[in-house]
This record gives sequence, C-alpha cells and structure tokens, in this order.
Amino acid sequence: MRILLTGSNGQLGSEFRTLDRSTAEVISTGSRELDLTDEQEIRRYVRDAKPSVIINTAAFSDMDAAERNWDACFALNAMAPVVLAEEAHRLDALLIHYSTDQVFAGTKTEPYLETDYPAPLNVYGASKLAGEQGIASSFARALILRLGWIYSARGENFLRSILRLARYSDELHVAADQIGAPTSTKAVARATERLVRMYSGAHKTQFPTGIFHLTASGSITWHGFAQAILAMAPGLKKPLVTPTETAESASFARRPRYCLLSCQKFYTTFGFELAPWKQQLGEVMEEIREMDSEAEVAPAQT
Ligand SMILES: NC(=O)c1ccc[n+]([C@@H]2O[C@H](COP(=O)([O-])OP(=O)(O)OC[C@H]3O[C@@H](n4cnc5c(N)ncnc54)[C@H](OP(=O)(O)O)[C@@H]3O)[C@@H](O)[C@H]2O)c1
Repeated sequence: MRILLTGSNGQLGSEFRTLDRSTAEVISTGSRELDLTDEQEIRRYVRDAKPSVIINTAAFSDMDAAERNWDACFALNAMAPVVLAEEAHRLDALLIHYSTDQVFAGTKTEPYLETDYPAPLNVYGASKLAGEQGIASSFARALILRLGWIYSARGENFLRSILRLARYSDELHVAADQIGAPTSTKAVARATERLVRMYSGAHKTQFPTGIFHLTASGSITWHGFAQAILAMAPGLKKPLVTPTETAESASFARRPRYCLLSCQKFYTTFGFELAPWKQQLGEVMEEIREMDSEAEVAPAQT
C-alpha cells in the first residue's frame, strides 16, 4: 500500500512520523514538496505518486488569519481537497480528509450529529464546509473526519500557549462560555492508522465512507481545560485562571459556543472510539515531560 500524506510538518501530519512503514510506503509532503494551492501541481504529483490512500492533513487552520485571507484559505481548504478527491477517484484510491466542528453555528445544546445543518460563523468554517461539499460531489471514495479543539505536544496550540503564558503571568483570562472536547492529534493519527489497516483488509467497495465526527469523549470549557493542563504540569508556577467571556477576548473570527460532536456514528460503524479528553491530556503531558527531559540531557550545540 502506498500512502500520500500531506501537511506532514503540521500538528496532525507530524504524528504520522511513527506510522508503520513495514506494511505501507509513505510519501510525506509538506508545502515545499507539494504546494496544494497549485491545482496542476496537485494533479501531476498525485498521478506520479499513484497512492492507494491519500491522507490530507494540510489546511489553512489559523481561524483569525482566515478572516483577512479568505482566498488563500479557500484555496487550501476548499479547492485542494476537491482536486485531491478527483485524483483519488481517478486512481480508485481512498481519500482521508479532516474537517471541523467550525462548520456548525454552535447554537445546539446537545452534541451535533453528522446530519445536522451546517451554518459556519467564520471564513475558516465556510472554507472547510466547501471542501466537504466538493469532496462529496467528486464521487471519490472518501472519509471525512470532523475534528474539534485539537492540540499536540508540539506546535502552536491552546495547550502550548497555556504552558508558555503560565511561566510569566500571575493571572490568565480564559473563555468559560465555549464548550468542546479537546482532542490530541496523536489520538486522531492512531485512529486514522487503524482505519487504514481496516481499509487494507476490507473489500474496497464495502469500506464505509462519508462524514464522521471524531473527537475525544467527555466535554469541558477552555477555562476548565486550562485548569486541567496546569494541574498536570508539576513544577510550574500556577497562575490564577480567571473565567472570561468569548466576546471579551481579542480574537478576530466569530467562534461557536457549543462545539460538541456526537461520535456515535463513528463508533457504530468502526467499532472503536477515542479516549476521554482527560486521559488524552495525560498522555500528551507525559510526552512533553519526556521531550523536556531529553532536551535537558542532550549535549549543548556549539
Ligand atoms: N487545529 C484545530 O484545532 C483543528 C480543529 C478541527 C479540525 N482541524 C483540521 O485538522 C486538520 C489538521 O490541522 P492541524 O492543526 O494539524 O494543521 P496545522 O498544524 O496548521 O498544519 C497545516 C499544514 O498545512 C500545510 N500547508 C499550508 N499551506 C500549504 C500549501 N500551500 N501546500 C501544502 N501544504 C500546506 C503546512 O505545511 P508546511 O508546514 O510544510 O508549510 C502545515 O504544516 C486540518 O484539516 C484542520 O482543518 C484542526
């Protein structure tokens, strides 16, 4: 099996570095190897590589920047996935693509279902929805996994920001009126690998496709998540974490208040689910501790 991975330097894409290479040849691409804003380059690259699975983790994921760069955002989040889907269809390959809770307005009071009506509040959400819709009309065999509140031990994300800010702040103001299920990229990557293994052992045409929600189980506010992060960070000075309202924060894009996704369809279809958010957080904090202790023992660069 040959897998073409996009976004391999990103939060989620970089988690696939430990992908089992004994059963799959993995072609990892970042924006330097494959510019996904160039339609002709995508078509050429995919036709040369001839993958049987395409895992598309690349995205314009900065929600605030998207409000001012809607054309770049739509190129990466809407055009590129559709071209990948068309090329996957041509090769009879499976496309695994990631979407987001931001396709919803967040006005519900119970977890969103895949069948719920999308109504994005921001450019990023609109671009991801356009990507989903384009993939659906390409007739490709595609699995679209809607994620939410993802973070990892590396890169720029909520968890890393809280750990950084805690070092020099006595008080942090964190939104307490948004609710979601923080999900580690490691958990999403492991689930994706499991799906790829299931696909390789299944009859292609019988493998389930379509949109599925995939997040950690449980729920928490950003404020509660910040408190949990700090509680699991021994040795770190603990600033006061003050609950605040989203409107008070300086973000540019409108954000849905309620971001919980029901993962029941995924569980019923594939027979497994992601661990609760707190367990995932514990694993990521452990990974950060290991990274920090490796950095401490590593000889200084001269
Ligand atoms: N972040 C979240 O909270 C969140 C929530 C829900 C869903 N999602 C979805 O989850 C998926 C993974 O997100 P993530 O947080 O891992 O994203 P990320 O860390 O921002 O990584 C995105 C990657 O996209 C690549 N990229 C940017 N411009 C490109 C171009 N012109 N051509 C090719 N590649 C390009 C970048 O590659 P280089 O580094 O090589 O330039 C970057 O590494 C995305 O589909 C995202 O929409 C994210």
